[in-house]
Amino acid sequence: MFASIILLLICIVFIVIQLKSRRPKNFPPGPPVWPILGNILDLSLENPLKDFERLRKTYGNVYSLFLGPKPVVVINEMKTIKEALVTKGVDFAGRPQDLLINDSSEREGLVMTDYGSSWKEQRRFALMNLRNFGMGKDSMEERIHGEIQYTVDTLEKSIGKSFSPQNMFHNAASNIICQVLFGKRFEYEDETIKTVVQCFTENAKIANGPWAMIYDSFPLIRSLPLPFRRAFKNVETCRKIAKSLMNEHKQTRVPGEPRDFVDCYLDRLDKPGDRSSFSEAQLTMYILDLHFAGTDTTSNTLLTGFLYLMNYPHVQERCQQEIDMVLEGKDQASSEDRNNMPYVQAVIHEFQRVANTVPLSIFHSTTKDTELNGYSIPKGTLIIPNLTSVLNEEGQWKFPNEFNPENFLNDQGEFVKPEAFMPFSAGPRMCLGEGLARMELFLFTVTLLRKFKFIWPEDAGEPDFTPVYGVTLTPKPYRMKVQLRVSQKIPH
Ligand code: HEM
Ligand SMILES: *[C@@H]1O[C@H](CO)[C@@H](O)[C@H](O)[C@H]1NC(C)=O
Ligand SMILES: *[C@@H]1O[C@H](CO)[C@@H](O)[C@H](O)[C@H]1NC(C)=O
Repeated sequence: MFASIILLLICIVFIVIQLKSRRPKNFPPGPPVWPILGNILDLSLENPLKDFERLRKTYGNVYSLFLGPKPVVVINEMKTIKEALVTKGVDFAGRPQDLLINDSSEREGLVMTDYGSSWKEQRRFALMNLRNFGMGKDSMEERIHGEIQYTVDTLEKSIGKSFSPQNMFHNAASNIICQVLFGKRFEYEDETIKTVVQCFTENAKIANGPWAMIYDSFPLIRSLPLPFRRAFKNVETCRKIAKSLMNEHKQTRVPGEPRDFVDCYLDRLDKPGDRSSFSEAQLTMYILDLHFAGTDTTSNTLLTGFLYLMNYPHVQERCQQEIDMVLEGKDQASSEDRNNMPYVQAVIHEFQRVANTVPLSIFHSTTKDTELNGYSIPKGTLIIPNLTSVLNEEGQWKFPNEFNPENFLNDQGEFVKPEAFMPFSAGPRMCLGEGLARMELFLFTVTLLRKFKFIWPEDAGEPDFTPVYGVTLTPKPYRMKVQLRVSQKIPH
């Protein structure tokens, strides 16, 4: 009996030592690693933010931890993140391929595709076609204005009442992507789009929730009927919808005369010869990727922006003065007006800085053995770029910890963009919707502020600016009140 206990203890000690030394040589420091479990016990599965804070304080800007057997490196602060994502861009341009999120997307699409020729081809195609979206009759800007009109109608119907703007902004952002993809918008009550949005919202929660962490840490349990199965089901539902929309398109398209992104892609498929990474299955996932990447991000940024505008009325008024002055006599704003609105530009950038919409970027992975800050990082290591640490980094901002448009203004009141402004991340994987997103943020903010005054309802209590944790940060649900501006005449 005694002997076997001793033996057992020796075994345990042996295993622990074995696994402790598993952190590769010269790997970034981090907490001791447990056998099998890795560091999963060091993290709160619901909201690990506090634990990360602690680890960073103890181990520095580049630290490591283990999800089960999987090594993860978290990188913080501008200099280090730029070094990794820009200077050593290619080394860090991969995407992890063995996570829940990979298995549910079957590696097609764009966002989670690993670095390689297929990703390059697909990304180049998207960039080119998003840039060219003057295609068809309406330019991108016209399409956005078209959608804003529905938002304006919604707001007009709500004048004097207090209401929740969540769905309004969500639907608007979703419809703008649908315009790009399918050349059409969906009514706000449309069941199809509601289903898609619901699946995605749910998956965004699952993807960094406790079950995903468990799935990612323990390959052995992956085939069990546990709650993460839900994520697969959701993707399947969306894929079916995307497929039927694609088929609809195939019926109505005229080859060579693309109306939208899907038409462009189908034209590309018609090209004879080697179509390389282009396929219908790829397109289906692509549609979902772009829709997902473009909806939650933009709408949460707008939601955050308006939350601050209501609570900083002097900022709102100063924007309105500038907007009235620059747009005097014009029907509507256009992107070029940005250059004449330094204050509004500063405010919108400040929205993005405080909204911190994608706090940990999308996870990267190393494409080869590499180095960072003197540490060795092997190929295939999961990399988490902590964008939050840049967006409020001490020393990079005049006012890192408050909402203040002065962060983007110089002494002459001109707009300046500090190097640490990277809500879209940086390097080869940087957000490819940046141009579109910035156009949306500008046109929405300016058009709505020109027409309406936004008021924090008297009975709403103190605002809570703490966001809800997720892949994308969301402001806590809030209500807003709107008034028509006095200086603003209602057209006809
Ligand atoms: C305010 C709005 C937005 C924010 C804050 C945002 C932020 C980001 C971030 C942080 C990444 C990860 C970059 C990386 O891995 O290093 C990303 C990737 C991406 N975004 Fe955005 N995004 C926004 C809007 C959009 C829009 C409107 C689109 C759609 C056209 C879009 C499409 C994408 C795509 C396709 C990727 C993946 C790129 C790749 O893996 O190569 N985003 N975005
Ligand atoms: C990212 O940076 C923020 C702010 O510096 C910090 O509070 C948070 O804990 C960091 N997250 C990770 C994963 O290190
Ligand atoms: C990613 O997902 C695909 C499809 O589900 C799977 O075949 C592949 O093995 C996964 N990659 C890894 C590294 O697990």
